[in-house]
Amino acid sequence: MKEILVAYFSRSGVTKKLAEDLAKVLEAEIYEIKPLKAYPLEEDACIQVAKREKEKEIRPALTGDLPETQGLKKLALGFPNWNDTCPRCVLTFLEALDLSEIEVYPFVTSEGSGPDGINDDLQEQCKNLGKLHQAANGDQMSKEALGAWVRRGGQLD
Ligand SMILES: Cc1cc2nc3c(=O)[nH]c(=O)nc-3n(C[C@H](O)[C@H](O)[C@H](O)COP(=O)(O)O)c2cc1C
Repeated sequence: MKEILVAYFSRSGVTKKLAEDLAKVLEAEIYEIKPLKAYPLEEDACIQVAKREKEKEIRPALTGDLPETQGLKKLALGFPNWNDTCPRCVLTFLEALDLSEIEVYPFVTSEGSGPDGINDDLQEQCKNLGKLHQAANGDQMSKEALGAWVRRGGQLD
């Protein structure tokens, strides 16, 4: 296992593309977080599902094996902003891992809201986060800048 893993959830492909670019820059392995039940393709329906999952503190089941984390030092974690926080399948993923010794670098795509407030929700929801860096705005940073941010331990410049 390499020291850096790029993991992502993406419903419509924006975060997937960024995660793939970042994995190349970092020469890291990549892992897709896959909910067992796919989210609705229609956006309004998906917003309703996302709201319900958040309100009820649901952790939707995932499919596929979890990544190997032995020797892992940094987890770059990409996801879209959903109703000002992260999709709950991302929490399922985080809670399934032992992150006590792993730094987490969230990067977020959105249609404008950015990553504001997402760290607070992650900290509150996931009690197993060892070191959570301030989430980066994936729409406003180049893949090279994101890569440097992860490599330099969370320093933005
Ligand atoms: C359920 C849902 C909720 C969303 N909520 C927000 C939001 O609160 N603010 C925002 O700027 N964009 C919001 N978006 C837009 C997505 O964050 C944006 O399109 C993202 O880049 C999609 O990433 P993906 O293609 O990797 O799924 C929402 C999209 C969905 C489906």
